[in-house]
Amino acid sequence: MKKKVTVVGGAGNVGATVAKAIAIRELADVVLVDIADQKAAGIALDILQSCPIDGSDTRLTGGSDYAASEGSDIVVITSGVPRKPGMSRDDLLQVNYKIMQAVTAEVVKHSPDCLIIPVANPLDAMAQAVYRLSGFPRERVVGMAGVLDSARMRAFIAQELNVSVSNVHAFVLGGHGDTMVPLPRYSTVAGIPITDLLPKERIDAIVQRTANGGAEITKLVGTSAWYAPGAAAAQMVEAILLDKKTIMPCSVFLQGEYGIHDLFVGVPVKLGLKGVEQIIEITLTDEERAALHKSANAVKELVGVIGV
Ligand code: NAI
Ligand code: 2OP
Repeated sequence: MKKKVTVVGGAGNVGATVAKAIAIRELADVVLVDIADQKAAGIALDILQSCPIDGSDTRLTGGSDYAASEGSDIVVITSGVPRKPGMSRDDLLQVNYKIMQAVTAEVVKHSPDCLIIPVANPLDAMAQAVYRLSGFPRERVVGMAGVLDSARMRAFIAQELNVSVSNVHAFVLGGHGDTMVPLPRYSTVAGIPITDLLPKERIDAIVQRTANGGAEITKLVGTSAWYAPGAAAAQMVEAILLDKKTIMPCSVFLQGEYGIHDLFVGVPVKLGLKGVEQIIEITLTDEERAALHKSANAVKELVGVIGV
């Protein structure tokens, strides 16, 4: 039977991009749910009409009624206010928490067995809110941020060394905020750590640009990014639906791993049909571990404010 993915917030920039990426790969039928009822219907129709050109038999519908989302395998939550230039992701906390409250209740009601991929910002706090509100086991709530942040780092490394992006792997851990933790030691080109290929000052510049990656685009565009975020969420959908067992950095509820308790933070995980099938603990230097804990503390502060 064909799989079903619902994108809540699907009329927005990130949501529509996720939907298009899923359709082009024929991963599942897609339902766009959005309070912008007509826009969701229109975007679904537009993507549907691109399918004959892409050779995809994906069916797409859109609207504000969750009934169409009934029995989804995965629900991606992109509903939420994006930031404007000068704003931090944390400035979105209260307004997006209210949206998570409204949305999660509907998701659970209509798709009690689904996996949820929260995307709205501030990501780790919103993922924790969705986890608490849903009552789902931790395997079935997995936040999108690390795939995006690592893709940004990969792009910068490939540019710097003038090599194919397919040769480049990168790992960015921690919360999706200013304190995120790009890990040069675990970032490689054809298996060679970038610490063997680039001088420290170039690596520092890449790390800095990665951590500032979202703000750089927000400043240029006037709202936050959507192409790379949409592609990143779709890659997670693919790993799950095709049971690929792909290892990627995602925000998950840690219960002692990395010495972090009861908190969503980005770490490497294995994604497959069951969702988060393994949390992988890599060895960190004292400095890397301290940076991860600093980032976790920033997430802790936010979840404390909304009490989740
Ligand atoms: P957008 O404004 O283009 O789309 C948001 C959509 O959510 C709109 O269509 C809006 O009508 C809808 N919406 C708002 N409240 C809703 C509700 N209660 N129920 C259903 N739909 C509702 O924003 P964009 O650019 O798509 O960003 C969406 C969110 O994703 C933002 O919070 C943004 O900060 C976040 N984001 C997170 C990233 C990450 O790495 N985790 C990357 C990029 C964006
Ligand atoms: C980004 O990193 C705003 O979180 C969003 O582009």
